Amino acid sequence: MALASLLVKLGTAGLFVVLAQYVLAYLRSPLKRIPGPTLAKVSDLWRLFNAYEKKHITTQLALHRKYGDYVQLGPNVVSINDPNLVKTIYSTRGTFLKSDFYAINDAMQDGKVIQNLFGTRDNKFHSKYIRPVQKLYTFQAAKEYEAVMDKTLTEWYHQLNKRFVDGTNQGKACDIADWISFLTWDILGEMTFSKPFGFMEQAADIGGMLETAEKNMDYQSVIGQIPALDKWLAKNPRLASKFPAFAVTAGFCVERFMERMQSFEQFKGNTDFMNHFLAAKEEHPTVVTDNEVIGYMIINVLGGGDTTSITVKAIIYHALKNPGVHKRLVEELRSADVSHPASYTTLEKLQYLDACVKEGLRIHPVVGHILERVVPSTGLALNNGVTLPPGTVVGVNPWVVHRRADVYGERPDKFLPERWLKGSSESDADYEARIRRMNDADLSFGKGNRVCLGRPLALVEMAKIVGTLFAKYKIELEDPNAEWEVHPQWFVWPHKIKVKLSQY
Ligand code: HEM
Repeated sequence: MALASLLVKLGTAGLFVVLAQYVLAYLRSPLKRIPGPTLAKVSDLWRLFNAYEKKHITTQLALHRKYGDYVQLGPNVVSINDPNLVKTIYSTRGTFLKSDFYAINDAMQDGKVIQNLFGTRDNKFHSKYIRPVQKLYTFQAAKEYEAVMDKTLTEWYHQLNKRFVDGTNQGKACDIADWISFLTWDILGEMTFSKPFGFMEQAADIGGMLETAEKNMDYQSVIGQIPALDKWLAKNPRLASKFPAFAVTAGFCVERFMERMQSFEQFKGNTDFMNHFLAAKEEHPTVVTDNEVIGYMIINVLGGGDTTSITVKAIIYHALKNPGVHKRLVEELRSADVSHPASYTTLEKLQYLDACVKEGLRIHPVVGHILERVVPSTGLALNNGVTLPPGTVVGVNPWVVHRRADVYGERPDKFLPERWLKGSSESDADYEARIRRMNDADLSFGKGNRVCLGRPLALVEMAKIVGTLFAKYKIELEDPNAEWEVHPQWFVWPHKIKVKLSQY
């Protein structure tokens, strides 16, 4: 009895100490003047559970509506929705480093942490490893991959015809969301190592690679809110096997690499990324080893497959849900008489298609969290007189800033490609100023020194996919009233867009 009462007293005292620590931390916090939910001010657990429930986008939108441009999301985390600070936080000089959220992307090898180009928090590391490959990702280089994209696109519409358009399969419902994922991953396989993954051929998620990628991002979305937990979970050798890993995808890349090493002559003339990475190895032997070549390949596939497919799915879904947009897009494509697959030289002149792509990126950015950065030694001066101290984690959520009516115009929740076009009574100068404001706040590809490396490639590819699909097929939703499924995590994944296809 005496022991039980002692234990209760100790428990109560322990609880009191923990609570007192939270209260003290709150009272001393330099972020005291930033509004936000009370629980967020004392613990990161609030944010973790919010991400676990997949409510982070709706919650952050509501919080910014309630409190304004600055909202505290954790004891040391501030969400910023001030378009004037976008260029400061995501500067080309890279003074605001990525936060430990990105440490989830590190790999463990023999007990050592291995960073990569995407996740590194170190500018020196980043410059060292991006320099040998940067020239492979220009617009010019992206256009040189058109022939490879065309080959895969042709195979894609042959598959669609066979399964959903021709003969007895005519009118069969097609989940275009799945078929866009199959396409973008197979294109990347062809571009990276001259071999598709085989998703289209098998019409299936081979080796669960797509599902694993999504589960992995789910883990990052939640555990990334308290990155220290990662050490005890996925990076814990005893538990690692219980968490989703990119083993199948990485294994596929390693197999392709071994194949190339064994029959180098056979692939000698190929202009795929792998041969370019191998050339980078010759050119920069002290920086690029076989490990880096494989690492670049993995980043290519993981960085480019789902991101491109998510955006294309958003463009298709919103175009189909908005008959006026659909009609105008088809009219533009068909009056330009685009070929199948559509050539980028023709597509890049089509203003409405371009506006649809931009609007897709705006209304449905791939990333659903704030893009976390750490405030440097200068601090970060906000327009409310508060200066956030060095070490504060800050970031802008693309889903929040892309919905600012004062930047993007009326009805920011509506898919309205027209917002990217010049208004009939708008002067050239006003239009340019408006577009500049929109572009300056645009975070769909990130910004600054860590802007998306694959942006040119993605823009060429997306125009070609959307252009080919809408020019070649009459496409309609199987049930015009049905909504798609969206899984908001680190990436915001669309699923289940059932359509019917027939050829023009
Ligand atoms: C529509 C398609 C795409 C979207 C929306 C997209 C979006 C993004 C975003 C938002 C970032 C910055 C993330 C951050 O700051 O946390 C990023 C970085 C990156 N992306 Fe993309 N991406 C796309 C396609 C691609 C493609 C096709 C590739 C490669 C083939 C690629 C490779 C990368 C790499 C390597 C980085 C890291 C860059 C660095 O830190 O220097 N992405 N992307």
